[in-house]
Amino acid sequence: APGPLAVSVIGCGYLGAVHAASLAQIGHRVTGLDVDADRIGALAAGRAPFHEPGFSEVLARGVEEGQLSFTVDPGDLAGCDVHFLALGTPQREDGLGADLRYIDAALDALEPHLRSRAGRPTLVVGKSTVPVGTARRIAQRLAPLPGVHLVWNPEFLREGFAVADTLRPDRLVYGVADPNGADAAVAVALLDAVHRPLLEAGVPRLVVNYESAELVKVSANSFLATKISFINAIAELCDITGADVSDVAEAIGMDDRIGPKFLRAGIGFGGGCLPKDLRGLISRAGELGAVDSFAFLREIDAINTGRREYALRLARRALDGRLEGRRVAVLGAAFKPDTDDVRDSPALDIALRLHGEGADVRLADPAALPGVRRRYPSLPTADTAEDALRGAELVLLLTEWPEYRALDPVRARVLVSRPVIIDGRGVLDLGSWRDAGWEALGLGRR
Ligand code: UDX
Repeated sequence: APGPLAVSVIGCGYLGAVHAASLAQIGHRVTGLDVDADRIGALAAGRAPFHEPGFSEVLARGVEEGQLSFTVDPGDLAGCDVHFLALGTPQREDGLGADLRYIDAALDALEPHLRSRAGRPTLVVGKSTVPVGTARRIAQRLAPLPGVHLVWNPEFLREGFAVADTLRPDRLVYGVADPNGADAAVAVALLDAVHRPLLEAGVPRLVVNYESAELVKVSANSFLATKISFINAIAELCDITGADVSDVAEAIGMDDRIGPKFLRAGIGFGGGCLPKDLRGLISRAGELGAVDSFAFLREIDAINTGRREYALRLARRALDGRLEGRRVAVLGAAFKPDTDDVRDSPALDIALRLHGEGADVRLADPAALPGVRRRYPSLPTADTAEDALRGAELVLLLTEWPEYRALDPVRARVLVSRPVIIDGRGVLDLGSWRDAGWEALGLGRR
């Protein structure tokens, strides 16, 4: 069996950088390529350009030990046996579909170096989330290059657990042209060599065709989104009827056909994946003629964005409809804890809209503030939760960072000018806040 391989990772954004460092960690010689020289400079110096638990350590170790290097020059990849494509596929400006220009540009840059391999087995592995049909199109493009194989290998990592998820995924999915073809055997063997330690640790691996692999990823994320919007719709009914959504979720989750995860009601999902993948699937299904069957996913999206409006209505009501100049502490800007990512963040969206309606917002977040301050310089921020709470007439908990969950209602009571809190994430023990003299409101909770 081949030992460590020379591997490249093209695109050193969040996914690519984590992937590169994780592959170095399991012994491969990894070269990361990106067009962003600043980012490459930081990574090459062993500095993490984003907040992700455990990432700085594997990055620094890889760079120090010489296993991991970074470059802006595609020529440096010529000696690699395996190339991972980890480029962004953002939602297109003109609609819900994916913008594939970064993948196309990467292939343009890579092609001459693939050609120079003179028939030696070389693997191109797509990690990016793409519309179904993309991999086969890329495989056709690569077909004239002797010895070059394409596998589509979607990534399921969660932010906040990225390194652990990369090294211990629930499953590996390999998409190939024909799972029974002779060509696939070569490609699968090479990718197995990359993943050897994972496979030896018992990670299941499925070999499927390109289209299935592409659909696995967007189906998984759209299904997760559906669970969240489902429980959020039930939460609305709980508010109307007096039921408690956490009780309903706990009870239905005990049915192992349903499962307890992704049933936490609140202000809805955000981030770089769930919203984009959901919209991407709706768009692609429409292009392929399955409009009606995917209408429900539009509702999933609408229910989700409606949750932000719902929380805003609660906030307005808590301030008797007068927002102008009222001090509001917003705890959380990131789309979820343990990340500084604010892409499509419900928390930041709500903070911006309150600010836009004239409220005197103080936004706190343990990790996301530097980015927020750069992008929204006029949005007032607070360095700590205490600073945000001081003098507040309303407190909104919108990202469930551990330190916000652990807030002491008695001590917090002393800081605010009016003890009203809305728990937008269903994580506080509302009873203990009420005991401490707060008006404590949840979404769908008693
Ligand atoms: C997601 C998928 O989980 C991952 O497999 C995929 O590779 C990328 O997309 P991520 O975006 O990191 O990962 O976040 P995730 O933990 O899934 O949370 C997504 C959003 O859903 C967050 O905004 C979170 O707050 C929200 N959420 C999650 C809920 O509102 N309720 C829940 O019960 C769970």
